[in-house]
Amino acid sequence: MMTLLSTIACLLFLANTASACVGYAGLHDHFLPLKGTLAVEQEIPLNAAGYGMSDLGQGAYMITDGIYQTFVLLSTAGVVVVDAPPTIGRNIEYAIGNLTNVPVKWVVYSHMHADHIGAAYLFTNNPCVVTIAQENTAWQLNFTPDPRRPPLAITFKDNYTLVAGNQTLELFFPGPGHDMGNIIIYALKQKILMMVDQVFPGYVPFEYLAEAIYVPGWIKAHDQLLAYDFDVYLGGHMGGPANRTAVELQREYVQDLYDNCFAAIQKSGTDDPAVGLGVIAPIVLQNNVGNSWAEFGVYLDAISELCYNVTSEKWLGKPAGQDIFGYSHAKAMINSLRFDLDVLGPTGVQP
Ligand SMILES: *[C@@H]1O[C@H](CO)[C@@H](O)[C@H](O)[C@H]1NC(C)=O
Ligand SMILES: *[C@@H]1O[C@H](CO)[C@@H](O)[C@H](O)[C@H]1NC(C)=O
Ligand SMILES: *[C@@H]1O[C@H](CO)[C@@H](O)[C@H](O)[C@H]1NC(C)=O
Ligand SMILES: *[C@@H]1O[C@H](CO)[C@@H](O)[C@H](O)[C@H]1NC(C)=O
Ligand SMILES: *[C@@H]1O[C@H](CO)[C@@H](O)[C@H](O)[C@H]1NC(C)=O
Repeated sequence: MMTLLSTIACLLFLANTASACVGYAGLHDHFLPLKGTLAVEQEIPLNAAGYGMSDLGQGAYMITDGIYQTFVLLSTAGVVVVDAPPTIGRNIEYAIGNLTNVPVKWVVYSHMHADHIGAAYLFTNNPCVVTIAQENTAWQLNFTPDPRRPPLAITFKDNYTLVAGNQTLELFFPGPGHDMGNIIIYALKQKILMMVDQVFPGYVPFEYLAEAIYVPGWIKAHDQLLAYDFDVYLGGHMGGPANRTAVELQREYVQDLYDNCFAAIQKSGTDDPAVGLGVIAPIVLQNNVGNSWAEFGVYLDAISELCYNVTSEKWLGKPAGQDIFGYSHAKAMINSLRFDLDVLGPTGVQP
């Protein structure tokens, strides 16, 4: 029989286990349902071969395996392929083969990450195929060569216009953000805008603000995207094509996160019992004498948790995944505010 004491002990144990899961979802597999979110609405059915296709008109197609996207433009002079994610792999060839007899002539790398272009070699085995990317992408691929991501034939610094027969694809480098050379891709005639690992329609971004190497640049890219005249947005991930509303919605989420993390850093300069550095530090140091990393680790976790909590009041369960990656977004935002934007709160120069 369970005594009151053991019941309490069990509850405490469960509470501890649950709190241990905050920010670490690896061993935890119960998340908020996708039902009722845009994440479900935009799903595209996959065929027996494992891919789905969306006809975007005038020779433009998006091919997906449900997680990744490839953009394809059929032209009178050959096929343009933007990105070749390894998970879609040979299905990109099959999908194109089922659309046209015209061969692939150009492969555009949105950026250098293997999960988006690691199947490029399937096309570049043909020496007539021309590869195109921003020059930082070429630099990175020269730094860490990979036969599955062959070197670039054409590189550009700011922008490049690919005129492929009857199609026009404008490539623009908005500056470092998600990666050093991640570009905006714009199909002029169809008003289709693509930027990979930037906006994740239906979902919050991938963890740590999509692993942006330069968060201020990644944040600014939302405005740079919205400056285009576009009807369709492709984010390179998950399900189907989206639109302007998805970009606006993520911009609002990121702005809220920014404001809430800013406020959390400011609050940590007060004697707030949950986040005040002057309150937390002595307690942590008492148990960990002289251990500055312990003191600072607990402090950063506390302000990130406050930012996550406040952000969740508005956003939990709306874009899918706030419960999964929301805490990591708060951590990434706090770091960027501190290091990139000099919002140091109690660790800045004091009056
Ligand atoms: C361009 O040509 C391709 C291939 O013939 C065709 O599928 C596509 O609709 C054309 N697009 C435009 C914008 O003319
Ligand atoms: C058409 O797609 C199927 C898979 O759905 C594939 O087996 C076949 O080879 C494709 N045809 C061409 C010509 O690529
Ligand atoms: C495109 O790049 C060229 C230089 O290569 C520059 O002169 C031009 O202003 C750029 N256009 C845009 C829209 O950035
Ligand atoms: C974008 O798509 C959503 C549904 O996915 C729709 O509710 C919204 O009105 C669309 N926005 C625009 C500008 O077309
Ligand atoms: C965040 O919310 C959780 C769950 O409600 C709570 O236990 C925790 O104390 C909150 N943290 C902060 C710093 O407000």
